[in-house]
Formats: sequence, structure tokens, C-alpha cells
Amino acid sequence: MNAKQIMFYALIVGLGFARGTELSIELPPETGAYKQVAGVELAQAFCVQCHSVEYTAIQPPMPAKFWDAEVKKMREKYFAPVPPEMDAKLVEYLTIAYGTK
Ligand code: HEC
Repeated sequence: MNAKQIMFYALIVGLGFARGTELSIELPPETGAYKQVAGVELAQAFCVQCHSVEYTAIQPPMPAKFWDAEVKKMREKYFAPVPPEMDAKLVEYLTIAYGTK
């Protein structure tokens, strides 16, 4: 082997290592689900059809009044099929999981 060939092989081996490290990626923690506290089944039933949980999760911690308005807005403005009798429980859940409670 001449010097050029050695460099060529070194390059191939080097690329192999680079690929090896590239493949050992670490996934971020799961964020695609509503927080598992009491009432989560309501959010899973009524708040996943149109957008991801991120819409809810990226809000700063807000009081019940905000979440109440949010649930009503989803129904009245965007036609989310949330039965009004579910509002109180949903607001309770949202305020605990993503709010100030
Ligand atoms: C029928 C479809 C639909 C359903 C079901 C729905 N949303 Fe939305 N939601 C939307 C749309 C449309 C937007 C506005 C998207 C945009 O502006 O890009 C939105 C936006 C949001 C936002 C961002 C703030 C805002 O007011 O724009 C939050 C928070 C949110 N939704 C929470 C919820 C929660 C909680 C539920 C369950 C009660 C829910 N959504 C169910 C359609 C829906």
C-alpha cells in the first residue's frame, strides 16, 4: 500500500466511525401526550382531533378562567365536539395539568 491508499482507507474507516456516532442519537422525552393526571381521559377524548397536545402544553401556566374560555372557544369558534356538561371537568384537568392549580 502506498501513502495515498493508506489515506484513502483511513478516510473510509473514519467515515465509518463518524456514521457510527451519528446513529447513536438520543430522543427527547415524550411530549406528544396529555399529562397523566386525573381527567386526562377527557383531554384525550376531546382535545386531540385537530391539533397536537403542544398547543396546550406551550401555554404558560394559566388560571381556570383562561382554560374555561379556551374550551368554550374550541367549541364555539372551531366546532370542537365537546359537550358543555364536560366543561367543568375539562377546565379542572387543564388547570391542574397546565395551569396554576
Ligand atoms: C375541532 C377542532 C379542535 C378541537 C377538537 C380542539 N381544538 Fe384547540 N384549536 C383548534 C384550532 C383551529 C386552533 C387555532 C389554531 C391556530 O391558530 O393555528 C386551536 C388552538 C388551541 C390552543 C392555542 C391557543 C388558542 O386559543 O389559539 C389551545 C391552548 C387549544 N387549542 C386547546 C384545546 C383544548 C384544551 C381542546 C380540548 C378541549 C382543544 N383545543 C380541542 C381546533 C380545535
